[in-house]
Amino acid sequence: MAMSKPPILFIHGFPFDHAMWRNQVAALSEWECLVPDLQGAGFAPAPPSPDAYSMAVYARDLIELLDERRVESTVVCGLSMGGYVAFELLRQIPQRVRAMVLCNTKSAADAPEGKRGRDALAEKARSAGAGAVADELVPKALSPRTLAQDQNVVRDVRAMIERQQVAGIVGALHALRERPDSTPLLAGIRVPVLVVAGSDDQITPAAGMREMAHAISGAQFTLIQDAGHLSPLEQPAAVNAALRGFLKKLV
Ligand code: MLT
Repeated sequence: MAMSKPPILFIHGFPFDHAMWRNQVAALSEWECLVPDLQGAGFAPAPPSPDAYSMAVYARDLIELLDERRVESTVVCGLSMGGYVAFELLRQIPQRVRAMVLCNTKSAADAPEGKRGRDALAEKARSAGAGAVADELVPKALSPRTLAQDQNVVRDVRAMIERQQVAGIVGALHALRERPDSTPLLAGIRVPVLVVAGSDDQITPAAGMREMAHAISGAQFTLIQDAGHLSPLEQPAAVNAALRGFLKKLV
């Protein structure tokens, strides 16, 4: 049956799952929020071989979901790795992407040093488990303000990383290190785009996101104060206000 509300597809980052969007889903009751777990994340099955993971595979699974739900076209909102998957959807099914929200993400592929970092983190996940991955990523992913003053968010993010399956973490790291450069896509984007950056994002710094927004015709740029890499969880009210402002122009 066709959906009665307009759809928005939320794509989580690494190493997170659908729960990272809970504040947006709660706020956008007039939208049909599709909030899947990517392969190997959350409750989704995790194939053991890292070669089974790529941005193309993640996108393929999402296209299957859109087909099953009979979604002809949708707003796509991706955070970080979710943004890389959103670019892949733009490559594979441009006619079904109605608008894009690019949160805390970038278009460039990994440089050689970044790839070495992926390999080291995969090794750590294999030898020491998801808890060790959380130890490394939580301080990088959250803003100084969140780390000092918002222990609920710190605990939630840590718990979300700790519950991820090691095979899914290692597979995602393979997909991340092998992902293509999406920068050549930017100049050709013809749908409305909102770019959401965090003032204290160490992983995808705001300056690079502003440049990315400039490279997309007509893109809107919003800087979220006191947010690190997880702005939808760290500053949900500000992110929801930006999302609402953007989405209301689409309906
Ligand atoms: C993410 O949040 O998805 C990751 O930080 C992506 C990345 O490391 O490139």
